[in-house]
Amino acid sequence: MTHQNMIDPEDHPEIEQTDFDRLTAKGISRRNFLRGGTAAMGLFLAASPLAQAIAATSQTRASKLLGFSAVPASTADTFAVPKGYVAKPLISWGDPILKGAPAFDPSGNQDAAAQAGQFGDNTDGMSFFPLSEDRALLAVNNEYTNYEYLFAHQGKQDLTADEVRKSQSAHGVSVFEIRRNSQGEWQVAPDSDYNRRITANTPMELTGPAAGHDLMKTAADPSGRKPLGTFNNCANGQTPWGTYLTCEENFHGYFASTQDQVDLPARDTRYGLKAGNRGYQWYRHDERFDLAKHPNEPHRFGWVVEIDPMNPEATPRKRTALGRFKHENAALTIDRSGHVVVYLGDDERGEHLYKFVSRDRYNPDNQKANRNLLEEGTLYVARFRANDGEIKGKGEWLELSHGKNGLTAENGFADQAEVMIFAREAATQVGATTMDRPEWVAVHPNNKAVFCTLTNNKNRGQEGQPVGGPNPRAKNNYGQILRWWPTNGDHTATSFDWDLFAIAGNPTVAEGLYAGSDNINADNMFNSPDGIGFDRTGRLWIQTDGKYSNTGEFAGMGNNQMLCADPETGEIRRFATGPIACEITGLTFSPDQRTVFVGVQHPGEDLAPSHFPEGGNSKPRSTIMMIQRRDGGMIGA
Ligand code: FEO
Ligand code: CA
Ligand code: CA
Repeated sequence: MTHQNMIDPEDHPEIEQTDFDRLTAKGISRRNFLRGGTAAMGLFLAASPLAQAIAATSQTRASKLLGFSAVPASTADTFAVPKGYVAKPLISWGDPILKGAPAFDPSGNQDAAAQAGQFGDNTDGMSFFPLSEDRALLAVNNEYTNYEYLFAHQGKQDLTADEVRKSQSAHGVSVFEIRRNSQGEWQVAPDSDYNRRITANTPMELTGPAAGHDLMKTAADPSGRKPLGTFNNCANGQTPWGTYLTCEENFHGYFASTQDQVDLPARDTRYGLKAGNRGYQWYRHDERFDLAKHPNEPHRFGWVVEIDPMNPEATPRKRTALGRFKHENAALTIDRSGHVVVYLGDDERGEHLYKFVSRDRYNPDNQKANRNLLEEGTLYVARFRANDGEIKGKGEWLELSHGKNGLTAENGFADQAEVMIFAREAATQVGATTMDRPEWVAVHPNNKAVFCTLTNNKNRGQEGQPVGGPNPRAKNNYGQILRWWPTNGDHTATSFDWDLFAIAGNPTVAEGLYAGSDNINADNMFNSPDGIGFDRTGRLWIQTDGKYSNTGEFAGMGNNQMLCADPETGEIRRFATGPIACEITGLTFSPDQRTVFVGVQHPGEDLAPSHFPEGGNSKPRSTIMMIQRRDGGMIGA
């Protein structure tokens, strides 16, 4: 039974046997057992002889990739790393990065002009751009801001015009130079001419099929091509031609109205847009966020934005060919055909997983010629299939092109611009699979396997979100990590094979599928995987944005954390733990892989008792940590 349920290399001609050995040995062990027929009922019995046999077999393979000692779960207000490692703050919210900007003032009374010259709040996705061996730029997302810390009044009052501007300036992207000192540590260079703040008010350009469309035009911008700003910049991507991709996620929360009711079509409300005060209060002093007055303004957000970090004057470009949804990250790879392929998650319960394939090919010999590769191409959305009781299967990429797959005027799509602006509705029209909140996607450096975190989904099992396939648990409180292999290793192919690399769970308090897959145990358990990324060696780094109560179904998991997995053996080992009430999100390596930068977002959110990173009685601040080995070795090895 076990054998016939193993992944058969003959079903995967695109994958070499060595890759099979590397990619399937451990992660699938419990899954293989589940294929025996108990998966649908969730009646897995951990103590069964078969399970023990499978576990025993799979555990004999020690990881060659993971060379560090595991960090225990923690509820302390610290950032803990393995023995032999050092973690230091690189930069925190409010630190100056533009010339002349003031130092951080914890009172909450600093004005908008101060914030506009300082590192934004809630550090998230980031990328490292080398300038030389000892100089580099970091481009970093500042996803949102916490009013309980941003303002002395903690957001309990109506905001003034300057306070709205300050909030808008705490959002966006920060680009700043870092330099390596004689001790090998990286430090921010606030005097650098490269340094830049991009905020909710920075002029941008729309490109691609939706640019200039009637649905993009506003009173302030009749061209429909010149939006202002970016916000709720979640995770990121990096192109081989030297640009940074920032992804607009929960843009809906910034739109509100002075009116109690605003009539919006369902294709707009699907993004969560609605009247009433949504907390950020921008509409009070910036009319474009008033839905009753400017219903097209939200169409100008929810995109992937391309930024040239090397040119502080360059206008960021919103790439509408990549679709409009609550973008998490943009995992870019160059297919062997030369096409640029970008995998994209839409982080909302029951939304979808996408990929973009460029029309033109990447030219490694002429980077300037690559600058507009994201302007034209084809967007696809994923549909997954599985046999009953199996947590693996095949899938298809369904094309989102006007005139195909029912995306016609008859069905409400007048043109390609509408398909892109209302990509969610288009995905439903073509029959995409509803997912458990796709967060980051990461492409294995062998360019054959792709991984995506499905963070959790309390609504799984409700109408329209059936249990099964890659979303195998009702009321999914822990999340899972999906993996797929494009057919023949071709990222432009419209078919793939998939399985789950890990099913997060709590084996100390839960049973069946909720205990997690075989590579989850009492020493490495976590919930809500979110950020993921590979280093060049092929280690899979996993960051969490989950429940940190450390009680009940989350007992023993502690604070949010970062783990490292060996895709070869399936082993997962905890690498770092964050402070109180934070999320760990954002990671980027120096090219020598001897430094990793990791984001600690919103420590002490909702006034939880954190004083990270300065300790004492200080105000908690989102912070990028710089992590190195004391012996100067490679991170993770
Ligand atoms: Fe900004 Fe889905 O995380
Ligand atoms: Ca996230
Ligand atoms: Ca999340």
